[in-house]
Amino acid sequence: MLIKNISQYVNQEVEIKGWLYNKRSSGSIAFLELRDGSGFVQAVVVKSGVSEEVWNNVEKLTQESSLVVVGSISKHPKQEGVFELQVSKVEIVQIAEEYPITKKEHGPDFLLDNRHLWLRSKKQWAIQRVRDEVIQAIYDYFHEQDFVKIDTPIITPNACEGSTTLFGIEYFDEGEVFLSQSGQLYLEAAIMSVGRGFDFGPTFRAEKSKTKRHLTEFWMMDAEAAYVEHDENMDIQEAMVKFIARRCLENVKEELVILERDIAPIERMLTLPFARLTYKEAIEKLNHLGSDIKFGEDLGNDDEGMLTQDSPVPVFIHKWPKTIKPFYMKVDPTDPEIVLNNDLIGIEGAGELIGGSQREDDYEVLKAEIQKEGLSGPEYQWYLDLRKYGSVPHSGFGLGLERMVGWICGVHHIRETIPFPRMINRVRP
Ligand code: 4AD
Ligand code: MG
Repeated sequence: MLIKNISQYVNQEVEIKGWLYNKRSSGSIAFLELRDGSGFVQAVVVKSGVSEEVWNNVEKLTQESSLVVVGSISKHPKQEGVFELQVSKVEIVQIAEEYPITKKEHGPDFLLDNRHLWLRSKKQWAIQRVRDEVIQAIYDYFHEQDFVKIDTPIITPNACEGSTTLFGIEYFDEGEVFLSQSGQLYLEAAIMSVGRGFDFGPTFRAEKSKTKRHLTEFWMMDAEAAYVEHDENMDIQEAMVKFIARRCLENVKEELVILERDIAPIERMLTLPFARLTYKEAIEKLNHLGSDIKFGEDLGNDDEGMLTQDSPVPVFIHKWPKTIKPFYMKVDPTDPEIVLNNDLIGIEGAGELIGGSQREDDYEVLKAEIQKEGLSGPEYQWYLDLRKYGSVPHSGFGLGLERMVGWICGVHHIRETIPFPRMINRVRP
């Protein structure tokens, strides 16, 4: 039996294999908070109701000791929908040494140094379960929409998102190659075979950012579709975000309660269309709100915050100036200074969740752009080839998994959303 299925076992005898999360004892009765990976349950041991050996075992148990408990499931006397285990047997698997993470407050560095243990804490447990649900929802959404999962390479000879944030590795006789920043370029090749595709894997950015939204290793889901243009690209993103959010409200409700997440803003968002502002409109709005940002400048965290602070829905900022965006974005046919791209800025301070665009599909235009960025050479010839053999309008986007999970969970820093975070000042454990 798994604790998560406990309600199906009322009045039955069950065995739970797990760990002791917490213990309270009054001398004649002990309350053991058990966890088995699937959930948490309170186990009640009455001294007069068990053998001396069982009671002695209970007294020996320390936090995080591993154990096998037998007992019967009963309804909690006062709390509706809560169940308890009335213990008859306790078998010790191992008595844990004094556990470094206790109920008292610990600083973030201490917790991150002990990440291998911190993962067992209730909130961290809940976050990983939400992450799992978000991943599953992404797969389900794309399969429902006839996208094919494509695995793009991690070791790549070329840059996708600018050469300043590449992690280099020595590759045999080839010299320096890089860890992938995004599978997008490869996905563009694959969709000319399968029509619509998505990838999902670790991506790397040697970004010297120390913000609460930046990791050096994070998971990205890139999606790409042939014959999809700019507006439809945003429709797909909006539907995907709503699908993921809805699934989390359905399937990880309890976890969100543990995380003390107020789900009202998520529920509200689900009933409304997302806002769409052009970059130009966004700059005007920011100026109106007192910012001195000028057309042509990138939006910072504060700007994103100002643009979404009163919004009940995520905001697409689309059609950015070409000068501050990567080479592959398609130029707006009505304005050569503008590209057909979008960022999606989340609500509640979540920041940029998605970056996407329609892709340049003209061979000569793209070639010139690649050269302009100083990226030319054989590494990009295969990418240019795609524009020679049946080029079609196509679009795609990339979702940062940790940012999405961080927003759904309502956690302050995305380092808590990945099991073992990598940041500029942290590669251990
Ligand atoms: O906006 P980005 O850089 O877009 C691309 O890489 C495109 N090639 C994607 C595509 O069109 N297929 O990254 C996409 C998303 C961002 O919106 C953000 O959510 C996340 O990836 N992201 C990061 N997450 C954590 N740490 C970082 N350092 C991140 N950089 C980007
Ligand atoms: Mg971006």
